[in-house]
Amino acid sequence: NSCLTLAAVADGAEITTIEGLADGDNLSAVQAAFLEHDAFQCGYCTPGQICSATALLEEQKHGTLSTVSFETGHTSNPQLTDDEIRERMSGNICRCAAYPNIVAAVRAAARSAQA
Ligand code: FES
Repeated sequence: NSCLTLAAVADGAEITTIEGLADGDNLSAVQAAFLEHDAFQCGYCTPGQICSATALLEEQKHGTLSTVSFETGHTSNPQLTDDEIRERMSGNICRCAAYPNIVAAVRAAARSAQA
C-alpha cells in the first residue's frame, strides 16, 4: 500500500519492502511459492503482490477477519479459502492477469507456513 500512504504517516514506523523479505539467498516462503507457481509474467506487480501476501499470512495468523469471513459466517479461525485469498489480496492489480497462479502461490505459502 505504499502508493496510498503519505510518507509523513509512516514517520518512525518499521517498513519492510520486498528487498527485506529474503534472508540472504534464502527466499521467503511467499517468494518461493510465487516462483514455484509461476505467479507472475512481467513482474511489474509482483513486489506488491508478495508484500500483500506476506501481510495476509500474518493477518490470518492473528485471526484478522475479512469481508468474506463475515459473508460466509466463518468468524472464528477463518480458513484461507480461494475466496478469502482473493478478498484479502484485492486492490493489487495485475495487468498480466496472473491471478489464478497468484492465488495458488498464496495457498501454497499458507500451507507451508502451517507445516
Ligand atoms: Fe505483469 Fe502482474 S505480472 S502486472
